[in-house]
Amino acid sequence: MSKYIVLGAQWGDEGKGKIVDLISGKMDLVVRFQGGANAGHTVVIGDKEYILHIIPCGIISGHAKNVIGNGCVVDPLIFCEEVDYLSSKGINVTPDDLFISSQAHMVTPIHKFLDRMLNTKIGTTGRGIGPCYVDKVQRTGIRLNSILDGSFIKTYLEHAQMYKQIIEQAPSKISINLDESLEQLKAAAERLYPFICDSVEIIYESVQKGDNILFEGAQGTLLDIDHGTYPFVTSSSTSIGGAYTGSGVFVEFDKRIAIVKSYTTRVGEGPFPTEQDNKIGEQLRKNGNEFGATTGRPRRCGWLDLPLLKRSFIINGFNYISLSKLSCLSGFDKIKAAVKYDDKFHPIYKDFPGWNEEIEGITDIDKLPVNCRKYIDFIEEFLEVPVGMISTGPKRKDIIFKEPLW
Ligand code: IMO
Ligand code: MG
Repeated sequence: MSKYIVLGAQWGDEGKGKIVDLISGKMDLVVRFQGGANAGHTVVIGDKEYILHIIPCGIISGHAKNVIGNGCVVDPLIFCEEVDYLSSKGINVTPDDLFISSQAHMVTPIHKFLDRMLNTKIGTTGRGIGPCYVDKVQRTGIRLNSILDGSFIKTYLEHAQMYKQIIEQAPSKISINLDESLEQLKAAAERLYPFICDSVEIIYESVQKGDNILFEGAQGTLLDIDHGTYPFVTSSSTSIGGAYTGSGVFVEFDKRIAIVKSYTTRVGEGPFPTEQDNKIGEQLRKNGNEFGATTGRPRRCGWLDLPLLKRSFIINGFNYISLSKLSCLSGFDKIKAAVKYDDKFHPIYKDFPGWNEEIEGITDIDKLPVNCRKYIDFIEEFLEVPVGMISTGPKRKDIIFKEPLW
């Protein structure tokens, strides 16, 4: 019986969704423990594509039970949209296979409004994440348990008072209609009601039974509120510590899986030392179709940054690497990876000869071009952790297993 955690090792969008989906077929329980609908996890099965924001990707495999833990923030409106979206794709989400913590916080239309009003510097996803976590930490937040007794309505109206001045100042394109938004919230809350439970109990029972459990991280370590590139981060603990505070149950993870994209991307503002704001970056964006799954924004692209990854590995204690989007590096004459920084914090690169062969869909490690193998070997040596899985395309089956996962 095994316990897994999958975390993004960079700035998000590393390809977590695909790996979570792949693992969750063998899982009894899949747990989200932080973040909210700012996540955009893409899963491709056959010719069907699913993009999930708040519901754990385990829902797609149809085998695992799924938990949205206390560390998450849940927008009832987006939750309902996602349930309807999945239902239109033939996946029914019911309280028998999804459990949402009564201690998780509610993202309201006011939070989304505040995010849009205040998000000028960071370039957030506009999903109300920061303002919701502000209310949580400020102790004025709305926990989902207040849906059970209806008291969320009173707190919502208090929020309207609390943020009155800024609401009144809003330009018309960002403005919020409080009455309308409350009505929408009430309707969505009613649908959310049957999913709300004590998720600590659910997770603990599963641990006691010796189930196979997977923790699904959202965003990436460099977006962590403590360990990321503050203030250009998200508002939750995206690294391994968040798994504990955000689920309430101690789990000894056998495999702590780092999802590492073969190059680097970031959406929104903030430092990005290996960014290639040039033809190389454009080529990476094109090859990797690097546009946000949540906001559609073009992602900033650049070379792999190994010193930053090393830091991420220290934070999370990773013992298994899943390397993603390797096929997007085909066709470059030369590939670079930062291996250290000079005293002005400029990255110093190591050059690797590229490869022209298409590697999409390869499942046998021996079929990879020699130069590609050399790149992988170097990453492994540098990070001192085995590359166990190599993703060679978006589909479930596009994967090389180099080290056993089970
Ligand atoms: P997944 O789970 C990439 C980024 C935003 C912004 C910053 C803060 O798909 O990897 P927020 O809305 O969280 O307050 O925005 O964090 N960001 C992500 N970037 N992938 C994500 O999720 C992200 N979620 C948030 O672009 O820079
Ligand atoms: Mg994403």
